[in-house]
Amino acid sequence: MALREILTVPDPLLKQKSAAVEVVDDGLRALMDDMLETMYAAPGIGLAAVQIGVPKRVIVMDLSPREGEQEPKYFVNPEIVWASEETAPYEEGCLSVPDIYDEVERPAKVRLRYLNYQGETIEEEAEGVYAVCIQHEMDHLDGVLFIDHLSRLKRERAVAKVKKAKQAA
Ligand code: NI
Repeated sequence: MALREILTVPDPLLKQKSAAVEVVDDGLRALMDDMLETMYAAPGIGLAAVQIGVPKRVIVMDLSPREGEQEPKYFVNPEIVWASEETAPYEEGCLSVPDIYDEVERPAKVRLRYLNYQGETIEEEAEGVYAVCIQHEMDHLDGVLFIDHLSRLKRERAVAKVKKAKQAA
């Protein structure tokens, strides 16, 4: 496993649409291992492959409490097959937009279909933080960031802040 660099805004790759994965093999599992290690080190609760510069439809996530046992989840070619009409607000953040947090409104409940680490098809419902996180990460696969759901003013401010912090580092 290896730590990878996490891209931050305004890196143009973050706006790119990721390609579907053809087959879940050892090469893809190695990528998912690197993504998970990078996410834990950041630390974060979700990461899309494009955030480390690999535009493939792959996501890793771990919503377990920091002190408890790790419960990694892997999503290959995830799809939302149903979303509730009811929406819920949640204050989101993103490793590609460090230190910026703002409220985004999304469907409160979704039904997902994806391939797991073994390449098996899984279908399940997500709600609460799980629903927020998977929708946020799936946006990344289409080149959409959570700040794209905010006003243009807030978005431009966020990008400027991240750029400035990076230059100062
Ligand atoms: Ni993100």
